[in-house]
Amino acid sequence: MKKIIQTDGRHRKLEGWPLVFTLITTASILVGGLVEFIPLVLVKSNVPVISTVTPFSPLELTGRDIYIREGCNNCHSQMVRPFRDEIERYGEYSKPGETIYERPFLWGSKRTGPDLARVGGKYPDLWHVRHMQDPRSTSPNSLMPPYAWLLEHELDLSKVSTKLARLQLLGTPYSDADVTAAEQSARAQAAAIAERVAADGGPQGIENKEIVALVAYLQRLGRDLKAASAP
Ligand code: HEC
Repeated sequence: MKKIIQTDGRHRKLEGWPLVFTLITTASILVGGLVEFIPLVLVKSNVPVISTVTPFSPLELTGRDIYIREGCNNCHSQMVRPFRDEIERYGEYSKPGETIYERPFLWGSKRTGPDLARVGGKYPDLWHVRHMQDPRSTSPNSLMPPYAWLLEHELDLSKVSTKLARLQLLGTPYSDADVTAAEQSARAQAAAIAERVAADGGPQGIENKEIVALVAYLQRLGRDLKAASAP
């Protein structure tokens, strides 16, 4: 019978040397990987810059760390996909340029709760305070766990200036003045939120509690893009 594939046996021989064969395969996959990966990092236009996207304020950054610490991202994604149903429900779909200052990004793929990429401004500050204290009080039948301790834990701002300095080192455009005034700016933003919450009939004196930072962070989500699309 005529052989369909003609080989001179060299490939067969290579396959007979498992170690050499593994090394050659690994090398070729690595080269292929680099060829795909390097342009993604080097070609800037791959991530279009959105001019209204700015770095987080010191208080929002602190809130973001609390969000990560509490594992909120295990139930909440922050990535609206470009599908009609998602855009109708959450708003404009997410762009890569929105998360250029996020280290680490929190896109996520698990949605036990709704996507939060556009939650900023959807509710008043007080709603978030009550919802964190007891989700069932604002959303009957909610299966989200309560985070009542956020209203009791003292807000720790001792490292916020260092955090800004490190991010500045990594290329986030904070000025030296931003870094120096980080704690002061965080306190001012916290006081403004606490005042709004108290004025709306919520708990008094939360300006030194972790909850204000988390509220600042949640209220920021998606705001940059809304600013871009406003007429
Ligand atoms: C076990 C999963 C789970 C975890 C963990 C969780 N959530 Fe939720 N979350 C939900 C569910 C379910 C809902 C929808 C019902 C409701 O509003 O409570 C929700 C709703 C929300 C909403 C309202 C969203 C909207 O558009 O109405 C916000 C804001 C929110 N969560 C923030 C947080 C934050 C902040 C944390 C971490 C401190 C957190 N969640 C942790 C499940 C979770």
